[in-house]
Amino acid sequence: MGYQAVYERSMKDPESFWAEAAELIDWDRPWDKVLDSSNEPFHRWFAGGMLNTCYNAVDRHVTAGRGGQPAIIHDSPVTGSKTVITYAELQDQVARFAGALLALGVTKGDRVIVYMPMVPEAAVAMLACARIGAIHSVVFGGFSARELATRIDDAKPKVMVAGSCGIEPNRVVHYKPLLDSAINLAEHKPEHCIILQREQEPGTLIEGRDLGWAEALAAAEPAACVSVAATDPLYILYTSGTTGQPKGVVRDNGGHAVAMAWSMENVYNVKPGEVFWAASDVGWVVGHSYIVYAPLLAGCTTIVYEGKPVGTPDAGAFWRVISEHGVSVLFTAPTAFRAIKRDDPNAEHLGRYDLGTLRALFLAGERCDPDTLGWAQKILGIPVIDHWWQTETGWAIAANCLGIEQLPVKPGSPTRAVPGYDIQVLDDEGVSVAPGDIGRIMIKLPLPPGCLPTLWGNDARFIQSYLSAQPGYYLTGDAGYLDEDGYLFVMSRIDDIINVAGHRLSTGAMEGVLASHPDVAECAVIGAHDQLKGELPVGLVVLKSGVSRDDAAIVKELVNLVRDQIGPVAAFKTVVVVQRLPKTRSGKILRGTMKSIADGKDYRMPATIDDPAILEEIQTALGKIGYAKHA
Ligand code: COA
Ligand code: AMP
Repeated sequence: MGYQAVYERSMKDPESFWAEAAELIDWDRPWDKVLDSSNEPFHRWFAGGMLNTCYNAVDRHVTAGRGGQPAIIHDSPVTGSKTVITYAELQDQVARFAGALLALGVTKGDRVIVYMPMVPEAAVAMLACARIGAIHSVVFGGFSARELATRIDDAKPKVMVAGSCGIEPNRVVHYKPLLDSAINLAEHKPEHCIILQREQEPGTLIEGRDLGWAEALAAAEPAACVSVAATDPLYILYTSGTTGQPKGVVRDNGGHAVAMAWSMENVYNVKPGEVFWAASDVGWVVGHSYIVYAPLLAGCTTIVYEGKPVGTPDAGAFWRVISEHGVSVLFTAPTAFRAIKRDDPNAEHLGRYDLGTLRALFLAGERCDPDTLGWAQKILGIPVIDHWWQTETGWAIAANCLGIEQLPVKPGSPTRAVPGYDIQVLDDEGVSVAPGDIGRIMIKLPLPPGCLPTLWGNDARFIQSYLSAQPGYYLTGDAGYLDEDGYLFVMSRIDDIINVAGHRLSTGAMEGVLASHPDVAECAVIGAHDQLKGELPVGLVVLKSGVSRDDAAIVKELVNLVRDQIGPVAAFKTVVVVQRLPKTRSGKILRGTMKSIADGKDYRMPATIDDPAILEEIQTALGKIGYAKHA
């Protein structure tokens, strides 16, 4: 069956479509209803069904004879080590770590926060939670202690699992001190912390509260998989919202397992036993879905890579990993390829490696600019697939589904709707726009299996953020258009979210931090175009009258404040002091116009602008820091 037929089947009869897909998973008890829509606008997949995600990702492969196959390969150029963990070894480690959690009183439904660098123990901790029905919430290491504290207070974990340190090429990330200070900041206090002591910087353990990973494991009895409801939460993953308060995206067990397994075959065209590599981080949704769950559910070998595309040691790093481990499919963000291209424009490092096993490259996390797509196609000579998705959906909304039928590529487009997703582009009144016209990209409910059923402990915010803009539709927050062939083009966000090196950040959260500085009267943060990272945040601040301190000192404090309050991942390094900010007559700051100025783009003078002369001042100020240059 070709793409069109598969897609139409998924739309016409979603229940039989997903029931058939659910055969990829081992169930302890079959579902009563494939899709339960009895409590709209909430939809639950496989209601009544029981399963265990860890069993499906690990144990069943050992039973089926894959025990000796590598499950995880940890390749760590930053520590100079490589480790292979077979499925049998993974089963043993996960069962024992699950036992260690049980011994600390963690049971079904309890939350466990995982704060770890790119080490296999991160996956072990996640799977161990799944094994006993506990709900994990992984927090990316590039966030500050304050961000971690916010997540602790929302998820209220019984136990935290952390690495003692992470290793960035230019520094050691002090995970343990960050963890301690987050717990100090948080109102909720977890009962225990399990710390993976790394030799590069072991952490100081707090007696009675902390214990080492090795000692926890040594004392533990292996734990069995417990059956959970398909609709029980597997994990919470926090992502940037439009306020400083991150959104706790919930993932269920049943729909997630089905979507993950189905996507490996149909989107990525990967078979059991093959090596799949998502060069991302376990702290992001790509890491959850395609470093940990999907490849393991499908019986593949997954690579946990602790390094960068460049500088560890050079721009040939990805090619080395692919050739050494026989990677079939690589998934990364376009920014990684821009970094490789910047350091090695003629791809000379490629000549040193045999990439014979590599069949396809998938890119996501940010818009894939046609230049990067073209360069990757040229140097690799394999299909390069841009696909579009978000933390909330957990897997691709639009893609070129290689396992179904390879469609022609249109540069700048992530191709067409993935089966299960009814993508529509609507105007502000909720009316479908004509092909080629830009509007809000929406997904008609129900969302397919694997997508968020709600936000953690906050059904009201789930409805208000995603379902209230247009009843019956999910608001993606992206704007774009469908062309006459049904190809989607994702152009921009309709909210304050920016995308920095494939990382999703809220400018509103950064503005909140700048505004907390005693010398700042008003501020705005915009996402200015950056050749490497796609966008970079740029702050514009107006100082309170009477402040006579040196601008440079204030700017430095502001940069440090954002790094301290949000984290290095914000990559917030540029602030400019201005006399005033452009506003509409009703007082709304014209961020979009300032972004156009920063990017050197033509813009239309907003009809409602209060004082057009301010735009020239902004142009001059941004020009002084290297922006606002016409191409
Ligand atoms: N823990 C702690 N700090 C981290 C971190 C982590 N896991 N990951 C990144 N950081 C820090 C970096 O050290 C850097 O800090 P610095 O200001 O002290 O230099 C800062 O966060 C910004 O990091 P990053 O945006 O990654 O920039 P970079 O200059 O270090 O690297 C790229 C640039 C393009 C090589 C890098 O962004 C990359 O590999 N991107 C791939 C995209 C990706 O994985 N996206 C995930 C979604 S698919
Ligand atoms: P995240 O939730 O961190 O995965 O970020 C999701 C957001 O990143 C989306 O809503 C888009 O704005 C952007 N994004 C991700 N993938 C793509 C893509 N292939 N093309 C365009 N934008 C993308």
